[in-house]
Amino acid sequence: MKRFLRYTATTTVTAAVALGLATLISGVLGSPSADAQPQPQPQTAPPPAPTSNPGAASIVPGAEAGSGSAAGSGAGSAAPEAAKPSIVEVPCDGATLASSFNGVVDGEIATGGVVKFTMPPGVGVIPDNASSAGLEVKAGETHCLRFDKDGTFLYHSPANQHGAITARQWYDILVNKQVEDLKGGNFWMPKAVNLTADESDLMYYATLGLSAFFFFGIAGAIVYFVIKYRHRPGHKPEPSPAHNDALEITWTVIPTILCVFLFYYGWNTYVRVVTPPTKAVEINVLAWRWNWQFTHSNGVQDSDLHVPVNTPVRLVMTSKDVLHSFYAPVMRVKQDIIPRRYTYAWFFPTKPGTYRLTCAEYCGTNHSQMGITNDGRRAVLVVHEPGGYERYLADKAALSTQLPPEQLGKMLYEKKGCNACHTVDGTPRVGPSWKGVFGTVVPLSDGSQVKMDENYITESMLFPQAKSRPGFPPSMPSFQGQLKEREIAGIIAYIKSLK
Ligand code: CUA
Repeated sequence: MKRFLRYTATTTVTAAVALGLATLISGVLGSPSADAQPQPQPQTAPPPAPTSNPGAASIVPGAEAGSGSAAGSGAGSAAPEAAKPSIVEVPCDGATLASSFNGVVDGEIATGGVVKFTMPPGVGVIPDNASSAGLEVKAGETHCLRFDKDGTFLYHSPANQHGAITARQWYDILVNKQVEDLKGGNFWMPKAVNLTADESDLMYYATLGLSAFFFFGIAGAIVYFVIKYRHRPGHKPEPSPAHNDALEITWTVIPTILCVFLFYYGWNTYVRVVTPPTKAVEINVLAWRWNWQFTHSNGVQDSDLHVPVNTPVRLVMTSKDVLHSFYAPVMRVKQDIIPRRYTYAWFFPTKPGTYRLTCAEYCGTNHSQMGITNDGRRAVLVVHEPGGYERYLADKAALSTQLPPEQLGKMLYEKKGCNACHTVDGTPRVGPSWKGVFGTVVPLSDGSQVKMDENYITESMLFPQAKSRPGFPPSMPSFQGQLKEREIAGIIAYIKSLK
């Protein structure tokens, strides 16, 4: 009875002391305050260039040239823009050159950028296909060509060398850069580029170190005692003391102090992590199976997340269907995204670059493929140089109002994530392929048939379950309210073009 009382008293006193300290500390820390947050730093923004950024344009030798489908699909479209030449010759004097060539090599260039071709005698370049028309420089001549349309331009020289230049929007080039945190990955977390992540990293590594210390200490002691006091002939069991006050107080007080310290720093950091600053760039995030949609303040939508550097970014997130989770490892931000509810996350990017972005909540068949684009690339987080984010918003907004319907449709096919379920090459995936279906009569799950026309396609986008096709799960989300009239017409035009 006496022993029971002693143990009860020790435990109660310890708990009371820990609780008292914790209350005291949280009282001192106070409630979450936005004042403690970093404020946006003034940006030295260069004036927005209307369509392109010569600075970002660079010819990257060996850049992949496989995804040239954009170039050929424009044929047959009646849109006025499609008739414009893709490559324009410009005077070399005074032109801001994105790159120079003196042979046949592969390269990538920002749309609107100028390439100077200086061909040595005997090495001229001539186009390889119809979409490369205009790309021709004779041996021994110098020409400056401006690439005005996205696409891959194949060319070769009479010496049977082959090359390809891929023109992309400058921000798409950023998006295609190698992901920083995948370069030389190792056991440790990639270096954080979020200002507030430094604290949580310190916490993490301190806790890891502490755990390692006690793990090896305790495991070592166990092994030592097991060997020292093992049963062997002529060895009698040692009598155990009933209790030892000094020892018991030590093993209670030291861990208590450690726990209070962990609580103090944990609380401190947690408050900062969950309290977005009042002044932040706000981006809406919509997740669904299996894509992301990031909507910026000016209405620009994208499946890659573009953010400015040295500015707090706040994400307001919700899901169209099931649980997803936003996870950007370099930001140390992981937050569940829940249907019919908004959740928030924020970070303060400190270094421009292209970083990984994944869904961290199992959300169905293609969870691991969530955000994969048509060319097999994964959606990424792009932190822009000062001024780049503003230029991205302006260029992107201008582009989506200028595109002819078919190209708008092709862009939406990727940006709205249609490509997660529908292919354009005839292969069925989660949903039927879009290739060669327009105008055909297709069977429905209820045994009837429907003609694949503008009405059926529109109905299927807005009310996907109204007329579902046999052999495909009725899992398509509705795009009602997500697509403008122009965008619906664009997608129809794109499906029509896939013969
Ligand atoms: Cu979305 Cu996993």
